[in-house]
Amino acid sequence: MSVAQSQPIEKEKDLSDCVIVAIELWKIYRLGKVEYPALRGINMQIRRGEFVAVVGPSGSGKSTLLNLFGALDRPTRGKVIIDGVEISSLRSDQLAELRNKKLGFVFQTFNLIPYMSAIDNVEVPMVASGVSPRVRRARAMELLAIVGLKGFEKNRPNELSGGQQQRVAIARALANDPQILLADEPTGNLDSKSAAEVIEVLHNLNKKGVTIIMVTHNLNLIRHCHRVLWMKDGLVEKEVEQSVTE
Ligand SMILES: Nc1ncnc2c1ncn2[C@@H]1O[C@H](COP(=O)(O)OP(=O)(O)OP(=O)(O)O)[C@@H](O)[C@H]1O
Ligand SMILES: [Mg+2]
Repeated sequence: MSVAQSQPIEKEKDLSDCVIVAIELWKIYRLGKVEYPALRGINMQIRRGEFVAVVGPSGSGKSTLLNLFGALDRPTRGKVIIDGVEISSLRSDQLAELRNKKLGFVFQTFNLIPYMSAIDNVEVPMVASGVSPRVRRARAMELLAIVGLKGFEKNRPNELSGGQQQRVAIARALANDPQILLADEPTGNLDSKSAAEVIEVLHNLNKKGVTIIMVTHNLNLIRHCHRVLWMKDGLVEKEVEQSVTE
């Protein structure tokens, strides 16, 4: 049994500075009669303002964990508490609001809408949350500038490099000013230069206070992370605190 998992949850510990808490989190996938436990009782606390890397072999449960944190899927057992609220207690409209307002998602494959310009892509979440056209255009301009894409507002995804597309996706994830950014291999499809640029963008956001949980396979990209969680077989096998390079 791993060190991290063998310790009991510290009940008295003040969890108020934690934006995400996982308690005895299990996810068992069922394929016909076969059950596959992708997560096997994860306990985890992510503090406000942390930049956490989740690493580990393929199939160790990293994406499954991130999907549960993002309320994109439900655990088989256990709890996910986001900003003090246990999310299984939320109705589907409340969950949708949580996903739209508090959480931002970035995926390996960018998931931009191909026929829309960069700026229109960034505006999509703001349309969903009812922001007026004028305000959302201004906000999208500002966000594209923050991720270093001033001048690329009208480009469609196929007119941008992979790194630029991922930065559009990050700008889109920030549209509703989330406290938490969940990034599943955000640099997985990028060359090393673009990957470094994307990491710099994430680092700068973290310095502004956004809590970031990033799954990555690339250990060269974790020097800005405060903590590295090593997953194996659905558990956190080890946890390493890092002194952050500025
Ligand atoms: N929808 C699903 N149905 C059945 N099994 C699944 C499903 N999603 C994931 N799994 C299984 O759960 C395990 C964990 O998968 P997960 O995608 O979380 O791994 P991962 O650590 O993100 O891997 P990778 O580094 O390859 O992305 C794997 O064995 C996978 O095959
Ligand atoms: Mg994965």
